[in-house]
Amino acid sequence: MITILAIESSCDETAASVCRDKVILSNVISSQKIHEKYGGVVPELASRAHLQAIVPVVTEALEIAGVELKDIDAFAFTQSPGLIGALLVGAEFAKSLALAFDKPLIAVHHMQAHVLANLIRPINTENKIPSFPFLCLTVSGGHTQIVVCESPLQQRIIGQTLDDAAGEAFDKSAKILGLPYPGGPLIDKYAKTGNPDKYLFPEPKIDELDFSFSGLKTAFLYFIRDNQIKNENFVEENLPDICASIQARIVSILLNKLKKAAAQTGIKDVCIAGGVSANSGLRNEFEKLGKEEGWNTFIPKFEYCTDNAAMIAITAFFKYQDSQFEDFSVVPSARTN
Ligand code: KG4
Ligand code: ZN
Repeated sequence: MITILAIESSCDETAASVCRDKVILSNVISSQKIHEKYGGVVPELASRAHLQAIVPVVTEALEIAGVELKDIDAFAFTQSPGLIGALLVGAEFAKSLALAFDKPLIAVHHMQAHVLANLIRPINTENKIPSFPFLCLTVSGGHTQIVVCESPLQQRIIGQTLDDAAGEAFDKSAKILGLPYPGGPLIDKYAKTGNPDKYLFPEPKIDELDFSFSGLKTAFLYFIRDNQIKNENFVEENLPDICASIQARIVSILLNKLKKAAAQTGIKDVCIAGGVSANSGLRNEFEKLGKEEGWNTFIPKFEYCTDNAAMIAITAFFKYQDSQFEDFSVVPSARTN
């Protein structure tokens, strides 16, 4: 049995998880609240908050899992992509532990890990997981990708955003509405009681399997501005309908491309992943589309959709099996590649 301690610190969550083989024993997440008042993540503040949180978060993850540091077979961390100062905290912490306990060090790609969140089985259940090759729509605050996952460590991107990510489309729309950061979950909340057909927003015409959200953002900005000129209380009076309508358009842009990708590849096991896969509109429409198309659909448990270390741990487990270890010269990288 292989026990791994994984650390995730790429953005504004400090997270640690212990997994034993493919079972997650603990999954602790500390979300940084400091960024709310700035309307977005402030990198310098994120690094400082990671430094404050990392010891308590790792300690709690070990306690919940019922293991001690000496029981850990390998230490894993998120290497890229992310905020460099934030990544450095997790990377150096994992390195120090690996050095002190003389155990292997494993570097994990954050986006690959989001996809592999679909392979996490809850303890004591027979919960089904996708078969290879499977398709995954990975939608987060920084990325929007359609990936063919051939095996745990072989993933091929077949479509991606040319500008904003889906999470940014949610967060920027929320900001235009005067909602605090991160606005995605709030749009989701207000959309629940709104009419998604009330306002029609444009669907961009982008080739093949790629995405674009910047045109939608501009259209939304002008729509709100024009309506506020006519009625200064337009947003307050129509918030649920506005949220439901913009959410419906973001979701339809995502799912139309996913449908195209499934048709092109002929793959029937289809997953979603990343922070935006926590969106209830996307989850419902994805399940509905899956039924229509005859797909086997998979969505990670809610806590494994937004940033977490359990997904880093499971990815590290596969890397451990493949002896993909790092030496201590390894450094994190802000970039995707
Ligand atoms: O994967 P994630 O936690 O972090 C990154 O890797 O970026 O994704 C964060 C993104 C944010 O843009 C956030 O607004 C969005 O996921 N998000 C949501 C929901 N929950 C998180 N967007 C829409 N509806 C939600 N329920
Ligand atoms: Zn993420």
